[in-house]
Amino acid sequence: MEAARPSRTALRVAMRRAAHQLYDAEPLVLNDPFAVPILGREYLPEIERTQFKRNKPHSVSLRAHMVVRSRYAEDLLAQAVARGVTQYVLLGAGLDTFAHRNPYPQLHVFEVDHPATQQWKRDLLVANNIAVPASLTYVPVDFEHQQLAAQLAAAGFDTTRPAFFAGLGVVPYLTSAAFRSTLSLIAASPEGSGVVMDYGQPRSALPFLEQLAHDSLSARVQLAGEPFQLFFTPSEMAAELSDFRDPEDLGAPQLNQRYLASRKDNLKLMGSAGRIVSAWV
Ligand SMILES: C[S@@+](CC[C@H](N)C(=O)[O-])C[C@H]1O[C@@H](n2cnc3c(N)ncnc32)[C@H](O)[C@@H]1O
Repeated sequence: MEAARPSRTALRVAMRRAAHQLYDAEPLVLNDPFAVPILGREYLPEIERTQFKRNKPHSVSLRAHMVVRSRYAEDLLAQAVARGVTQYVLLGAGLDTFAHRNPYPQLHVFEVDHPATQQWKRDLLVANNIAVPASLTYVPVDFEHQQLAAQLAAAGFDTTRPAFFAGLGVVPYLTSAAFRSTLSLIAASPEGSGVVMDYGQPRSALPFLEQLAHDSLSARVQLAGEPFQLFFTPSEMAAELSDFRDPEDLGAPQLNQRYLASRKDNLKLMGSAGRIVSAWV
């Protein structure tokens, strides 16, 4: 991504989480009282302007993917915390608001993000009167040009204690080198640590109609200055995670079944492109 500009894709994701709060039926998949306020007067009108798009199947599916991946991450985090994890590292945090909803008194949250995106988020929090909790530490890092381990250590992250890591909506934007060095850091964490991320399948692995949807999304993120550059098939991802135990790699059918089965609205994931994976150290 461009060095000096906050992530546009982070804004698009946050708008979809906010649209979920505003327009989808109860019970929400991701109940996030900060999702709307964080956008404030600057960005909320954009959601209202694009409201007409919200029921288009492709848009519904993207929104479903984004709220389900956050919910899945937070469900696994709850399991990790129950087993004694006290550190949560959000890689490429964007406008994620978990730190502001953190229900675990013993859990410290480290938000890692590209410096320009992180500063933009912090400005938005100030502008919209959202307090920064004492249990949150910001760690500005460009994964392509800085050492994540050194920046985390400088921010007070304790490498001798287990941690749960989430990379939501981040993997496709990384180079293979940055992805692998991040995964090695997680694999070297103490037993009990875990990771959750979502990833996309390569175009060549998709059926024809999904290739068209892939092309359209790729063109949009390219225009936003954040081109996709990293894809995996499930077997390639399994190989990347070979140092971890208990991997769980879920596609649309399993995620729909787990989180969206008995909804009154049409919120559901479609296609085979997007997948969510978790694994443990
Ligand atoms: C699509 S957004 C997802 C944001 C957030 N995880 C969410 O789900 O709302 C991608 C995020 O990855 C971050 N990112 C992309 N490339 C990065 C890099 N090289 N170093 C640090 N962060 C990066 C962006 O700043 C942005 O916050």
